[in-house]
Order: sequence, then structure tokens, then C-alpha cells
Amino acid sequence: MCNVEEKSDHRVIDLQGTLLGPLRLSVITPEIVRVQVGPTLSQHSYAVDGECSQDVDVDIEHDEALTSITTSALRIEVDSDGFIDMYKRDGTPVLCDYRGERSPLPRMTSAEQLALMEAEGHQAQKDTATSTREVVKQLHSDEHFYGLGDKTGFLDKRGYAYDNWNTDEGNQLESTTKLYKSIPFIIGLRSNVVYGIFFDNTYASHFDLGKESSEYFYYSAKCGPIDYYLIGGETMADVVRNYTFLTGRTPLPQKWTLGYQQSRWGYINESEVMTVAKTLRKFGIPCDAIHLDIDYMKGYRVFTTDPRRFPDLKKMANELKKRGIKVVVIIDPGVKMDPDYPVFTEGEKNHFFAMSPEGKTYINRVWPGESAFPDFGRAEVRDWWAHKQKFLTDNGVSGVWNDMNEPASFDGPLPADTVFYDEDRPSTIEQMHNVYGHNMARATYEGQKEQTGKRPFVISRAAYAGTQKYSTVWTGDNRSSWEHLRMSIPQLCNLGLSGFSFVGADIGGFLDDTTGELLSRWIEAAVFSPLFRNHSCVGTRLQEPWRFGEPTLSIYRKYVRLRYSFIDYLYDLFAKEEKTGLPVMRPLVMHYEKDEEVKNLNDEFLVGENLLVAPVLTPGTDHRLVYLPADNWFDFWTGERFEGGQYVVVKAGIDSLPLFVREGTILPLRVVTDSVDVSSENKITFKVWGDSATYLHYQDDGESFAYREGAFNTYQVKMRGRHAEVSLVHRGYAPLYERVDIEAGETTVSLTFDQQVQKYVRCPQ
Ligand code: GLC
Repeated sequence: MCNVEEKSDHRVIDLQGTLLGPLRLSVITPEIVRVQVGPTLSQHSYAVDGECSQDVDVDIEHDEALTSITTSALRIEVDSDGFIDMYKRDGTPVLCDYRGERSPLPRMTSAEQLALMEAEGHQAQKDTATSTREVVKQLHSDEHFYGLGDKTGFLDKRGYAYDNWNTDEGNQLESTTKLYKSIPFIIGLRSNVVYGIFFDNTYASHFDLGKESSEYFYYSAKCGPIDYYLIGGETMADVVRNYTFLTGRTPLPQKWTLGYQQSRWGYINESEVMTVAKTLRKFGIPCDAIHLDIDYMKGYRVFTTDPRRFPDLKKMANELKKRGIKVVVIIDPGVKMDPDYPVFTEGEKNHFFAMSPEGKTYINRVWPGESAFPDFGRAEVRDWWAHKQKFLTDNGVSGVWNDMNEPASFDGPLPADTVFYDEDRPSTIEQMHNVYGHNMARATYEGQKEQTGKRPFVISRAAYAGTQKYSTVWTGDNRSSWEHLRMSIPQLCNLGLSGFSFVGADIGGFLDDTTGELLSRWIEAAVFSPLFRNHSCVGTRLQEPWRFGEPTLSIYRKYVRLRYSFIDYLYDLFAKEEKTGLPVMRPLVMHYEKDEEVKNLNDEFLVGENLLVAPVLTPGTDHRLVYLPADNWFDFWTGERFEGGQYVVVKAGIDSLPLFVREGTILPLRVVTDSVDVSSENKITFKVWGDSATYLHYQDDGESFAYREGAFNTYQVKMRGRHAEVSLVHRGYAPLYERVDIEAGETTVSLTFDQQVQKYVRCPQ
């Protein structure tokens, strides 16, 4: 039998004497309940900042057999053994603990058989869970799973098992269980319920989503607390909103960061970079940033430049800025062990690096050779690193790309007892590994913000739940293969459902040589990826679009230009995202969760709610089957109208991207320029699809935090039949569009702002 302890806070319920030991349930909001099991109940979270609970009405009933906690949305029941079941308020079961025993997968192999298999060079399949703490839940036949960040494989994770241990993985296969990021959050969807589980444990963790059994699924961790959140909601969008309420949302980015970015590991000197910039302009390919990979540094020492190859980074950055192109540079965590290098000596003197248990700076090898690893779990180390960003901003750098921050290490993994701090408390890599990249991104974000006062632009390879507050992410070292092009869609969609809205995969593929056809299809598929960057590995075939001749160059130009016409739509989505957590790129299941056709639809996605993208993902293809969900849809290019709820075959030659707009949509389309220049925004077109539609368009200075004090404009565009109305529903940013065009079918109406009536009115004929 278990007892309920009276607490002064009515939202916190402590139960003693369950089979599992002490159990605490905390009601965070009517739709979020935190569950903590075990004797060490209090710990701080890297994902959830501070106190984010709301004042909630909670009813608690308790008798010998059952404790039940009811909010306006949920009921949680805990039986006398400590098993926990979650119901909707109306009694519909949502998620129940599994009462049976687990039955691990039989593999039927002997050591001898395994040795033979390995002798041939094959790797034996292993069950990767090494758990001491686990939570097992009932599984239903209609259950589907999403989330877990950018794990490989398909959109629906049911039937697979994954690990969370940030890993530098250059060979991303469908069977790969761990990658660069650990986002221990899943969404479960059944025909009548949807829920989320966030397992806030930074140690190595494991999720088995119905691989081991069709009766249950489970999540477990090697160590650390059992601390998870049960997240409810009426819709999948509600669950994402609730999860990002807990772990934070991507802040509105600077507008130029939505532009095209050109990168390569191997832009070896200033003249190469300038040539790339000039060639982009020569071929009419808009571009907002060029990335400098590790080659710009002096012997790969972070916060230095190579004096021969990049003699004056600031001057180069200024030259590029004149052409509308910003510089983004890579910064890795590994600090070269070199007694003549101030970053190392400063870190060593202040004991800022991770240590061996004997108290010596721990050394492993990365690009600069033997290197030390800043201990980012400590506030003073993060501050030190934040101040270091000044070197970059003083040199005209506009964005920082954090790489190798799992952390990667060439001489084997860091030993389990390497000392890393959890804030003020000495801990080990076991606990701090999965938040290493998170804390590095946070330091980078804070440093950039402090130095520039602008919205920081950080890109990170490693992440934990909540890193979205500080950084964008990319999917790491993919390959120039059709398989990886296809995989990028579920990867980016699941990142979005896991709270990460600003995401991208290397366009064209990082490893291996791409082909003109693959690059063409990749730029089409990626045209709405929030992070829009072509990046490739040293030694691979050069991957800028002009290296492939025609028609690749023209196709590439067409889609980069299309992207620029949609920058305002993407920016509008980010302005909404900051308030709701809803991602830019969304799997169809997010808005059509009752539709069986979309539960594991991997080759289409939505951008916002109203734009459906169905890229071609196989070679030699000039038609494809597109599933259009309920609602009516227009072909973006031809205007042809289709009824939803059916498959249609569409023509998709090498230069075509099948794109559909939901009936009743208004899209803001921007004048295409070489780069995203907010100061030249004096005209916009609102294109209307259908007879009746409303749209809110957001505008601000595109870089500062002034919008948080109201320095933005919101335009409301309304279309009813043939009548269009554009009004300002919020005016806080001085520049307004001089002209607004409303395009509906064949007709275009031009409006100008009338100061007297404070509205847009028809231009005099
Ligand atoms: C890692 C990164 C890659 C980068 C390379 C060199 O492999 O994932 O993007 O180009 O390191 O810095």
C-alpha cells in the first residue's frame, strides 16, 4: 500500500511505499504531468529552464488501492504498486503502464556462429540497451511513434529501437541507432489519442518502440533519474506546443539566415572564397552566406585565423558584405594543447577543461592534434567561451557553426570517469556527454548576443532536448546518395516534431560525389528547408551548382530564386513558431492525424499548414504519385485544382518540383533579390488561392530584438470573393510597404498605403 504525503504545493503529489520506491507527480499544466521515481527526486534540468509550471486546478483522490489526480484535461491514476495510467478527462485511456514482464528478443546465435560471421567482415546485430532504469508502457496495434530528433529511418518509428548517445557517425544507415543528437522525446499517436513522453535523462538512453514486443514499448537509461513528462493534448500540434512550452522554442532568427548559404570543407584561402562569391553573383544565384570550415584557422586553433591564407578576415568579411554575403565560421570545442596558444593556456590556468580523475587536463585528439575539452557544464566556462566570440564578431563574422561537439574524439571515446561538471558539482562524461553540444551552443548564443545585440545565428551538430532555444541544427555528415536525399525528409520532419524548427541537411550530400541529377533533385527537395546550405567534404567532387553544367545550373538557380520569393512566408512561420512551437517543415500527419495514408508518409511534407511539397526522390523519374489529403489543393505552377483525399499522378521532369497550395490560402511572395535585404522591402505580392482567405503577415527590422518591445508590423490580408482588403493590425515598425499587389488567378490589383485612412487602397489608375 502506498501513502500520499501532504505538500504545501497542491500541484506536487508525493507517494511513498510503492514497489518502485518514492514517486512524485507534479502537475505542470492541465496537459503536462511530471513523473519522478526514486530517492533522488531533485535535480536540475538542461532542457527545462526554471519554473515553467502554471497555476492549475488539481483534484486529488486517494484510497488504499488508487490515487487519482485530475486536471481539466487529464486524469492520472497510480495504483498501490506504483503503476501509472493516464486518461483523458472523459475516461479514454491514453497511456498505461505495462504490468507484465519484458521478453528480450531471441537471437539464437552461438559465439562460434558470431565469430564466423564477423570473420567475413559483417557486424553482428546487437541489442544496445544497457539500462538500469526503465519505464515500460502498453502498446496498441494502432500505435505510431514520431520524434527522437533526426534519427535515421522512416517517419514512423514503430518497430525500431534507438539510442541516445551523441555520436559522430559518418555512416548513416537505416539501422543506425545513434547519431549526433539526443532528444528523448516521442509522440505516440493512436486512432483516438495522441500524447508525448519526454524522458529528461542526459545519460545514455534507449527507446524501444515496439521492436522487442507488440505488447509494450519502453524507454530506459543507463543511470540518472527516472524523470519524465506525460504530455497530453487534443491534437499532435497541441502535443508539440506543450513540449516546446517545456523545453523552449526557436527564437525568431535574423531574416538573412533564411537565405541560401554556400559552404565546403576546403575553401582554402581568401581568393577561393571571393571567387565563389563572384561566381554566385555572375550566375544570378542569390546567396546570403559563405561558410568557412576549419581551413581558415591557424593550425585548427579555435579563435585564430591563418595569416597566410586568410590574412585579413575582417576585410574579406567587409568585401563580402558589400555583395550582400555574410561570413559564418566553424568553431569546434577541441582546444589545441599548445603552451604558446593563449586559449589553451588561459583554459589550463583557470581549470576550464575536463579532467582525468587524477585532476589533470584530459587530452584526446581532434583536428588540431592533441586537444583539451572545455567543460561547458560550468557557468564560468560558458562565460569564458561566450567572451571568446568577440574575436569572431570583431572580425566581421555573422554566424557560428559549432561542430564536433558530441564531443567527437579521434583516439577513442572519452573514458567514462573523465570529470565534467554539472554546474557546480563534479560529475562525469556519462552524465554530461549528451548535453555537451547543448551547453556549447548556449555559450555561443549568449556570446554572440552580448557582442552584437542582434539575434544570434548558431548552427550545431550535437544537441539535447531544448537546444532549439540557442541554435539551429543540421543532420551532420550525410552522403551524396538518393537514399540520403530520401531520408532527409523524415529526419527534418521528426526534428520539427521534436521542437527543432530551424533545421537542414547538407544539400547535395556531404560525403561522396554527387551528380547533376541528384543535386537538381536535392535543391528542389530542400527549397523549403529552413537551413538552406550546400556543403560538401574535402576531396569530393566540387559541389557548387556551376560545376555540373546545364541543365543543373539553371535548375539550381530557378529553385534558389523560388526560395527567395518565399522568404517572407518562412519568416512569418518563424514569427508564429516562436509563439506556438509549431515547426516550419511538417509531416502531413501533423495536420491530418486521422488519415491512415499519411501516418508513415515519407516523401511529402507541409510547409506551415498550406503548402504541400512532393519532391522527386529517385533518379530517371519524370512523373510521381502525390497524395493530397482532405481539403482542395491547387497546383502551384499551373493553378489546376484537385480534390483532396486522393492520389494524383503529376508530371515532374527534372526541373519540376510538385508543389500544391491548399484552397483558402494567401501566400506572401517577395521580390527576388541577390540577398535578403530588409531595407529594400517596399513591395510585396499576396497571392490568393481560392475565394475566401485571410492571412497575417509579419514584418520587422529582421535582425534586432526590438520586436520584443513591439517594433513590428502585422498586416492582415482578407479576400472575400473579388474583394481584397489589406490593413495594419499592429504598427510598431516605421517602414511600410509602398505597394501591395494582390494576385488572384489572372487578376492583379495594386494597393498603396493611404495615410489618412491608415489602410491600403487601390492605386489611382
Ligand atoms: C565534420 C562536420 C563537417 C565538416 C568537417 C570538417 O565532419 O560534420 O560538416 O565539414 O567536420 O570541419
